[in-house]
Amino acid sequence: MIPFVDLKAQYASIRTEVNAAIQGVLDSCQFTLGSEVVKFEREFAAYCQGEYGVGVNSGTSALHLALLAAGIGPGDEVITVPFTFVASVAAIHYSGARTVFVDIDPKSFTMDPARIEAAITDRTRAIMPVHLYGQTADMDPILEIARRRGLAVIEDAAQAHGAEYKGRRAGSLGQMGCFSFYPGKNLGAYGEGGMVVTSDPQYARTLRMLRDWGAEKKYHHVLKGYNYRLEGIQGAVLRVKLRHLETWTEARRAAAARYELLLSGSGVPMPAQMPYARHVYHVYAIRTKDRQRWQESLQGEGIQTGIHYPIPVHLLPAYEDLGYMRGDFPHSEQAADEVLSLPMYPELTEQQAGVVAAGVRRLAAGA
Ligand SMILES: Cc1ncc(COP(=O)(O)O)c(C=O)c1O
Repeated sequence: MIPFVDLKAQYASIRTEVNAAIQGVLDSCQFTLGSEVVKFEREFAAYCQGEYGVGVNSGTSALHLALLAAGIGPGDEVITVPFTFVASVAAIHYSGARTVFVDIDPKSFTMDPARIEAAITDRTRAIMPVHLYGQTADMDPILEIARRRGLAVIEDAAQAHGAEYKGRRAGSLGQMGCFSFYPGKNLGAYGEGGMVVTSDPQYARTLRMLRDWGAEKKYHHVLKGYNYRLEGIQGAVLRVKLRHLETWTEARRAAAARYELLLSGSGVPMPAQMPYARHVYHVYAIRTKDRQRWQESLQGEGIQTGIHYPIPVHLLPAYEDLGYMRGDFPHSEQAADEVLSLPMYPELTEQQAGVVAAGVRRLAAGA
């Protein structure tokens, strides 16, 4: 059996460190925010080449608060892509703004900058590129348009811890970068968690207030805030795991290189690392026109796969009120029909990658 992700293998490798870190929080009783969260905020912001980190209780909350801190609300429009996890769009909805979609570039699976200008109206306030699968969007043209049109850029970096664009880390490319620490992420908590990274002290101050009931100091609520605080145990676990993240990321990159070698010449479209990118392979998605059969056949051989994501957000019933239709974003729709994510985690062995690749090759050869 080759699982799609293997959280147990990772826990086994850091058990002693993690258990001690959790015990430390139990002893201190700093269960929400507290010193472990403060230290983790500093360490993760530095890792992302940003100045400030504001820990929150999920990636979705990070996106929501970043939008609010940028002053976005009802009557405003935010541009993002339909080929993403629903949370990107949910967060825009929470802010009261309207989502305007642009299609992806089919090679990188990320926002096609050439389509942005046509989507801008006099209500547009921000662009939210999604660094899907662990590769940043093509940020220079996005930032250039945003600068020229006076728009904020909020990165959805939920899948892109440690990803780089021309040597700069995801999360420090726009005004704010939003991360998820959902357990299966490249840097995953033992529960829920998220963070906004920014180099703007004003945004950081606003975000800190918004996540904790809008309070400037205890019981002095100057903003309408939320209970979006990051838990102490998650801060402590994430601090331990951050120390291993580069090693784990290199292991993911090595696994991706192995897949690429083993699948070369098979005709299977593999993920492309763009020339500007350090891809961190949160997801390793190949494409196939015969996905259901491939998925069932691999499952029959004990190989688990995933689909990220089968329905683009503009075609989800929950967001049909946005008024889009099939055919509006052909590259997103085709990707949603074809992508198949292979097992990918740092502990994936050479032998396991070999079994997966052999299974895929057999299917590609029509067997
Ligand atoms: C692209 C993207 N955006 C946002 C989120 C939301 O993060 P969370 O699940 O921590 O709320 C996720 C992950 O779940 C994601 O993959």
